[in-house]
Amino acid sequence: MAIAQPGPRRSPGMRQINATENDRSTLMHKGALMKHLIVVAHPAEDSFTMGLTRAYAAELEKLGHSQRTYDLYRMGFSPVLAAPELALGDHPISIDVKRAQDDLRAADVLTVIYPLWWLSMPAMMKGYIDRVFARGFAYESLNGVVHGLLGGKKSVLITLSGAPLSLLIKSGDWNAVQALQDTHVFRSSGFELLEHLHFDEITPDLPKAVGEQHMAGVRSCARRHFPAG
Ligand SMILES: Cc1cc2nc3c(=O)[nH]c(=O)nc-3n(C[C@H](O)[C@H](O)[C@H](O)COP(=O)(O)O)c2cc1C
Repeated sequence: MAIAQPGPRRSPGMRQINATENDRSTLMHKGALMKHLIVVAHPAEDSFTMGLTRAYAAELEKLGHSQRTYDLYRMGFSPVLAAPELALGDHPISIDVKRAQDDLRAADVLTVIYPLWWLSMPAMMKGYIDRVFARGFAYESLNGVVHGLLGGKKSVLITLSGAPLSLLIKSGDWNAVQALQDTHVFRSSGFELLEHLHFDEITPDLPKAVGEQHMAGVRSCARRHFPAG
């Protein structure tokens, strides 16, 4: 497991995880303006998660990139996969799924942002993945082996936890997060995962100064991978 040491511009509580040498060598060329899709799941608009999302989106726009944010709760996205959506072959796709797939198809970069709930993604985000990352769109499965169909796209994963990352690593929980989310969802679908940025110890008594450092950290993540055109 490659865990990049926090660099000089990173603050305590913010870790850049899993950016391998190979990943780093494929960072965007300077000047390449990208289309970004940001998908976020948090029920409270004034949450730290939503604040990070707004800071990241604003920074991308400041750099000249275009972005569209799917705020799943405020959109009223339905996370419930219905039986007809499981049918193989040609069948009408629900309008919301079709629109979400079109927006994902049009994007160069997908950034997904959510708090870890029970070490996993909130049900709202899981439902987005279940429905939008559908067979035939995000993956194909042949003899039980999954082939990602979203190759050529980049992704960034931003998560938050109440627990310190050191505890999650020590308990083995962090391995599970990476196996199930970084690898099984995003890399398996074909994305090149540029970075998994994790903010730990995010509790209601988070000191204001630390919160501000994290906002700077998420803006710096945008600049690190997507320089201005
Ligand atoms: C339903 C629920 C489950 C949670 N499960 C975990 C968990 O498994 N591990 C953890 O470190 N934090 C867990 N937390 C804490 C959240 O990750 C933390 O409160 C959140 O990242 C803070 O971001 P926010 O202020 O934007 O909500 C959980 C919180 C909730 C509400």
